[in-house]
Amino acid sequence: MAGSGFPQTPQATQRLETAHRRIATDLPTPECLRMQQALSRVEARAMHGQLPMVWDRAEGHNVYDAQGNKWIDFTCSIFVTNVGHGNARVRRALEAAVAKPLLHAYTYITRERVEYLEYLLASTPASLEKAFCVSSGTEATDCALKLMRLHAVKSGKRRRGVLCFEGNWHGRTMGAQFLGHNPGQKEWIGHVDPDIHHLPFPYPWRTEAWSDPRGFFRRGVEALCAAQGLDPAKDLCGLFLESYQGWGAFFYPEEFVQEAARFARENGLLLGFDEVQSGFGRTGELFAYQHYGVEADLICCGKGASGSVPLSMVLGRADIMDLPETGSMSSTHSAHPLACVAGKAALEALLVDGLLEQGRERGAHFQARLAALQKRFPGVIQHVAGRGLVAGLILRDADDKPLTALCDAVAFEALCRGLIVVHTGRESIKLAPPLSIPLDALDEGLDVLEQCLADCLARMGEAGEVGA
Ligand SMILES: Cc1ncc(COP(=O)(O)O)c(C=O)c1O
Repeated sequence: MAGSGFPQTPQATQRLETAHRRIATDLPTPECLRMQQALSRVEARAMHGQLPMVWDRAEGHNVYDAQGNKWIDFTCSIFVTNVGHGNARVRRALEAAVAKPLLHAYTYITRERVEYLEYLLASTPASLEKAFCVSSGTEATDCALKLMRLHAVKSGKRRRGVLCFEGNWHGRTMGAQFLGHNPGQKEWIGHVDPDIHHLPFPYPWRTEAWSDPRGFFRRGVEALCAAQGLDPAKDLCGLFLESYQGWGAFFYPEEFVQEAARFARENGLLLGFDEVQSGFGRTGELFAYQHYGVEADLICCGKGASGSVPLSMVLGRADIMDLPETGSMSSTHSAHPLACVAGKAALEALLVDGLLEQGRERGAHFQARLAALQKRFPGVIQHVAGRGLVAGLILRDADDKPLTALCDAVAFEALCRGLIVVHTGRESIKLAPPLSIPLDALDEGLDVLEQCLADCLARMGEAGEVGA
């Protein structure tokens, strides 16, 4: 398959069977390769390049193919199934809605929508007073941009400037691409939005950002305003940030975000968090921004919101959420009945069934084990970033060279040993086990990862491909 760096012929595997994993074939299987080829004929190649496996069934912390292989999933699909694949409560809710049947209702009133939104807003921080549901994360972040700018118009700002951050990512629709930083990804647009600005991100290797977080934020914003001739109170309307930066799970220093929040208040900017990846229990809090001790005006969520079917949303202060006129902010699938019942069930799984609390406990163990892993590979794992049940291992050599090929090799090796990790295509390995994962499965997955790292390093070291 064009674009995939993974083997295109079956590779010999060590057959294995434990309580949590089973590898019964060479990988990728011939079946997988046939499907890959079929997809490359009928589907845009941009969708391809993923680890070569076929998902036939997924339950709890496991993914199965039809050939008898069973993996521990450290991806939650992609931060979606925080409450476990096929969570029983979510399934029951979906089955009941399908059996009713109520499979679509546009923006007509449904009991499912009323019950979900009432429960959602009763369960989330008080500053979030109203919701607007859509289907994908990128629609939610695009919508947040619109709301920030409508607010600028209402409050009589001279310009509609939005402050974002270097390296952050918010989705693939046009507004989201403007908000995101990756310049290459938005070349297709042909112009930049002159009122979206990117501030320096406090990466863990920027020591000055951690020794003086408030100063680092202030210096960044002052330099921007001086260079662009901006008066923050007149020319800026919003500050929008990923609650942690996705590819490496990089959190900000708390004081950095607190200073950003203070700057936003001083100058009449709305403070918005992109919780699409970080929300719904992933980091040990319901939303990751809650770690920073600030109040949000807007948040965007998606992925883990329903633990299953497409559901995303913007939550925010009522006066902001009501800026668009009646009927002027909606989408065909907004608040789809299946999304609403799944969303309510997933939230109940977190709050009533105790998965949020369990995820917090598992997260402490997970982070301690990853810190030990870093100690074992000091010249290779440059940083372990993350909180709760998300982590990014940043692999760089002693000369700071990204070890992207090693990350790719570890991801494939792990697959061959019954563990799925998030393949980022860059020098990070990302991990996101479900909050429901049993402790022994979490430990088993971490043991596999450790062994894969050791073996890939030894193999690639011998071949002169890594210097460690
Ligand atoms: C932080 C963040 N924002 C927005 C998005 C876009 O979400 P979606 O792919 O559902 O459009 C993602 C997806 O990875 C994300 O991680």
